[in-house]
Amino acid sequence: MKKETVEWRTVASVDNIAADRPLEIIIDETFLLLVKVMDDIKAYQGLCPHQFARLSMGTVSEGSIHCPRHKACFDVYNGKCGPGWQLPALRQYHIRVDAGEVAIAYPLSVISPRNE
Ligand code: FES
Repeated sequence: MKKETVEWRTVASVDNIAADRPLEIIIDETFLLLVKVMDDIKAYQGLCPHQFARLSMGTVSEGSIHCPRHKACFDVYNGKCGPGWQLPALRQYHIRVDAGEVAIAYPLSVISPRNE
């Protein structure tokens, strides 16, 4: 069995991620979302699991990411869908933050399954 090597790709500066708006990055045609959570950064799938709106066009407030299209919301801490909707949680990806730079594990690596 071949062991896969993880590469850490720097994708953004923490200073470029606003507290109230997620930052979109695209890696290998995969839309991802970087979200500032207190002093931490989280990376989630960038397309809404409802009808694939780009969540980067939405906002972050009151602990939630708000989809711009039909207003579903997702918890910034774990990606779980908020009240009133029954959608899968956002996939969360492995990242690390070092010296103000955000790096993402490549190949992309999901932390938690969508339907937990
Ligand atoms: S596309 Fe996001 S709630 Fe419909």
